[in-house]
Amino acid sequence: MKILITGGAGFIGSHTCVELIDAGYEVIIADNLSNSSIKSIYAIEKIIRRKVIFYNIDIRNKILLEEVFNKHKIDGVIHFAGYKAVGESVIRPIQYYDNNINGTLVLCEVMKDFGCFNLIFSSSASVYSETNNLPINESASLSTSNPYGRSKLIIENILEDLFVANAFWNITILRYFNPVGAHKSGLIGDSPLNEPNNLMPYISQVAIGRLDRLKVFGGDYDTSDGTGVRDYIHVVDLAQGHVRALKVFQGKPQVLKVNLGTGIGYSVLDIIKAFELASGREILYEIVERRPGDIGEYYADASLAAKVLGWKANYNLHKMCEDSWRFQSKYPNGY
Ligand code: NAD
Ligand code: WQD
Repeated sequence: MKILITGGAGFIGSHTCVELIDAGYEVIIADNLSNSSIKSIYAIEKIIRRKVIFYNIDIRNKILLEEVFNKHKIDGVIHFAGYKAVGESVIRPIQYYDNNINGTLVLCEVMKDFGCFNLIFSSSASVYSETNNLPINESASLSTSNPYGRSKLIIENILEDLFVANAFWNITILRYFNPVGAHKSGLIGDSPLNEPNNLMPYISQVAIGRLDRLKVFGGDYDTSDGTGVRDYIHVVDLAQGHVRALKVFQGKPQVLKVNLGTGIGYSVLDIIKAFELASGREILYEIVERRPGDIGEYYADASLAAKVLGWKANYNLHKMCEDSWRFQSKYPNGY
């Protein structure tokens, strides 16, 4: 099967390309490198020891996207391309809605025109409302408080509408929890272009000496040690979840919504300790005010993924930290 990966030069996309190629799929990458580097394409090639087909295009450009579909008989699409920073989305809502929603609309229109109805979409645990019981399962209530999360929720609704209009569609919506870690080679990983927003890249930049100290956002949550608890998942586990989801495509047309998480919650202090152990470096930190919009604790109910995809996460927190550190050590200043 030939799979188009939008956003395949990015953090999760690049790992998914490697796992797909390993599993025997042919991969075509479309990415405008707005939040990634051509070096990640070279790194993928180094890991798989051959060239990949890469188009440096913006998926909102329908003509260029159609050219890709004209050149290749695409069997399915994994759609990662989009902006992902919650804080930035509050400041630049138009850009976020335009890129995330328009990008998806253009992609789906081209897919329909070319008779390709197999789509896996990158959604996020940020679509779940704050009031749900833990662990969070897929039928938990949905609501978001920022343009990024809202763009994901709107896209989920759009994809359901596509299926109502045309029952050929086979759509899997994957709701990721907190992806971290890197490929074991240390050649691809999370390489934010600016100061990291997320915890793990921030900690690893403190460990390497690029950043002074970590600000722990809040020490007074109702959690085991007062700091925020999340469900961190190794990016290679996540990538393998996509491989499993593609296999399920052979089933009946549907819209499937599935959490990808480990089902285990770790606090910020747990992550600091695990990273210190994996890197042998001290992580300086101070506890500061809560970050606006943050919630205390959430983690996935990952049982549906086991049931319908035959998938579960394998890698533990130590491996997540060890692999993040290997990537950071190889590229101290990022790509
Ligand atoms: P990323 O920024 O590393 O990768 C996204 C890629 O898409 C980048 O390479 C970027 O250049 C590309 N891109 C963006 N807009 C594009 C456009 N219009 N045309 C072509 N390429 C475009 O992000 P990631 O962490 O790999 O996330 C991938 C997807 O998963 C995103 O949709 C994100 O919202 C979603 N997600 C990420 C997380 C996370 O914590 N990383 C969690 C939940 C969901
Ligand atoms: C994790 C924990 C912070 C940074 C976000 C998006 C979500 C998804 C994943 C895309 C929290 C604490 C963090 C720091 C800290 N992305 N923290 N100091 O907020 O769970 O989720 O990324 O879909 O949509 O909202 O991830 O890594 O930012 O934070 O103390 O410098 O680390 O408060 O408890 P989050 P995160």
